[in-house]
Amino acid sequence: MIQVRVKPGIEEKLRSYFPWVYRPEIASYSRKPQKGEHVVVRDAGGHFIGYGYINPDANISVRLLSFNKEKKITYELIKERIESAYIYRKSLSLDTDAFRLIHSEGDFLPGLVVDVYRSHAVVEFTTFGMNLMRDWVISALLEVLKPAGIYEKKNEYIQKIEGFETQEGIIYGDVPPEIIIREKDLNYYVNIPQGQKTGFYLDQRRARSIIRSLVKPGFTCLDVFCHTGGFALNMKKAGAKEVIAVDISSQALEVGKKNAHLNNLDGIVWVEENAFDFMRKLHREGQTFDLVLMDPPSFAKNKASVPSALRGYKELCVRGLHVVKRGGYLVIYSCSFHITAEHLFQVLVDAARDVGRHLRVINMSFQDLDHPWILQVPNTLYLKGIYVEVL
Ligand SMILES: C[S@@+](CC[C@H](N)C(=O)[O-])C[C@H]1O[C@@H](n2cnc3c(N)ncnc32)[C@H](O)[C@@H]1O
Repeated sequence: MIQVRVKPGIEEKLRSYFPWVYRPEIASYSRKPQKGEHVVVRDAGGHFIGYGYINPDANISVRLLSFNKEKKITYELIKERIESAYIYRKSLSLDTDAFRLIHSEGDFLPGLVVDVYRSHAVVEFTTFGMNLMRDWVISALLEVLKPAGIYEKKNEYIQKIEGFETQEGIIYGDVPPEIIIREKDLNYYVNIPQGQKTGFYLDQRRARSIIRSLVKPGFTCLDVFCHTGGFALNMKKAGAKEVIAVDISSQALEVGKKNAHLNNLDGIVWVEENAFDFMRKLHREGQTFDLVLMDPPSFAKNKASVPSALRGYKELCVRGLHVVKRGGYLVIYSCSFHITAEHLFQVLVDAARDVGRHLRVINMSFQDLDHPWILQVPNTLYLKGIYVEVL
């Protein structure tokens, strides 16, 4: 196996279980590496650090899967990781038939995402190295999960970073284009081929439950960036008298309407519009709400875009605060790991100063537990939500 030596000093973070070696941190190779091949990573003195796979073209050149000399990357290791991920999910006793089974580095399987919708699995291979092990992954999934079908989702953003063409389509068994999943007492249509992510925002499960208890009968609510209505449905189910749900995607809104119908929750107003424009219009018209929730797409896909993303979040918060009643609630989420909770706090402080309001934090949420967050791997925590009372 090819040996990769890292520069002096780099071993410290790797020995603390940080699993990435960046390209400039590599001192030498024992020979020219092939894209995706398995490597042994050693410190400057030649001592073992771990086993990983390499993509010399990517900024994150090596991703480590094992820090144990006895555990090379084999089919058995992949299967063992999938098995323990499955056991962990079962231990969570989630009240749903849809969950994330593999959360990439969060399950020590970098480059692999697997979501389960009832008896069907949706996979994403997000690194060249993991894609090379796809046959192992599929065999292990069949052994451990025994799904009726597996669907592979394309990820065009990753394609640019890792330099390979991801695929889309059914790769095992049978997967209907639309599946109805259950989460607590609500059902949702999941359109796997057309939907965003793998079809549903499973990661916001905990937040949906917080919103359900925050909304009181008679509330007026605004769900901004509603997608297929996960929050809007919970607002209505909690007894909101008025729910406006806005998104720019007509396809997502169509599914949202079907979801409302499926759950006998009539009366949600679905609006296809740019959220920024729509909120400005609401403000001009003097409309206000008891709860304004904003769950925008990732504004910061990399570190360089953080400053412009923060301007976007601030703009949203100002517009959101303009339409919250005094004593009402504003909720903002960020699904970018480059945007920290502290960033969001500062954005809220800046926005509150502009509109002259006090904000009392009443809750915070993160991605739900089936998207595990490994403390040593910062990017495994990506989703944060701040809930404030607007005084
Ligand atoms: C993170 S998702 C929201 C997920 C949703 N809250 C849920 O739980 O299912 C972001 C959504 O923003 C929508 N979107 C992106 N840009 C938008 C814009 N400028 N105005 C309105 N919606 C937009 C996308 O179509 C997507 O549905």
